[in-house]
Amino acid sequence: MSIAYLNGVWNAMGETKISVLDRGFMFGDGVYEVIPVYKKKAFTLKEHLARLGRSLDEIKIVNPMTEDEWTRLIEKAIERSEEYDAVVYIQVTRGASESREHVWPTNTPATVLVMVYDAPLLSRKEVKPYNVITLEDFRWQKGHIKSVSLVAAGLFKNEAVSRGADDAILIRNGYVTEASASNVYIVKEGVLITPPTSNSILHGITRNLVLSLARGDNMVVEEREISAEELAEADEVLISSAGHEVWPVGTVNGKPIGNGEGGVVWQRLDQLFQAYKASH
Ligand code: PDD
Repeated sequence: MSIAYLNGVWNAMGETKISVLDRGFMFGDGVYEVIPVYKKKAFTLKEHLARLGRSLDEIKIVNPMTEDEWTRLIEKAIERSEEYDAVVYIQVTRGASESREHVWPTNTPATVLVMVYDAPLLSRKEVKPYNVITLEDFRWQKGHIKSVSLVAAGLFKNEAVSRGADDAILIRNGYVTEASASNVYIVKEGVLITPPTSNSILHGITRNLVLSLARGDNMVVEEREISAEELAEADEVLISSAGHEVWPVGTVNGKPIGNGEGGVVWQRLDQLFQAYKASH
């Protein structure tokens, strides 16, 4: 059962309403987090709450709660939802102004939204490699902030879907940044390669975990730029996010990657990921 908490009030997700003057609605002036829930427990919660704090600092919203308060609220939301494997969605906006002004209101409490809802992909029942296209990354220069202004992500994803693909990998100045809502990796001659963290990409919590699992398994890992040509010639291409874990890519711009079924490095990373999940 999906559930929402908005500024202290619990309700069904579809019944939860905000003011039209909320700056999240009016200006996309807010940040968010998506946290996986496995067996009723939020996964990598500390890391997600730390990134929420960093995103809030970047856009100059005072974090409305301490880490302990967030943790208690999230645990309560999971409990109330009765979901088992799901996601927690958190959104914090600058709150509702009295009028539509670009200048930030003073003394307005932040809006706090927490939702819990089902996440079918996390069951891993069917992991079908994605067909992706490449698109020019025209987003702003603060991709490390998990901003709710997702109009660009929607344009990329829908362009991909309208061309019969599942997602888009974004290219800026000839180099891969990330996908519409996930981080990107290639494998070349056994080496796992992913773009370095910078202001051009979201510093994925799943990415951090995948890289540490890979290093712990003695894989060779390189955090460096990946050119569009290297992407096309890769032995494997993978994406990762809270909603996908590690997911294989089968084709890029119609060209099969490996056998198109997800390669041995993806299989190994998925195995490591599932084992880590089971023990946390
Ligand atoms: N997306 N890059 C972008 C642009 C993202 O939106 C996301 C996550 C990631 C992966 O980050 P993480 O591993 O912390 O989930 C990378 C979330 C899941 C979403 O918008 O639904």
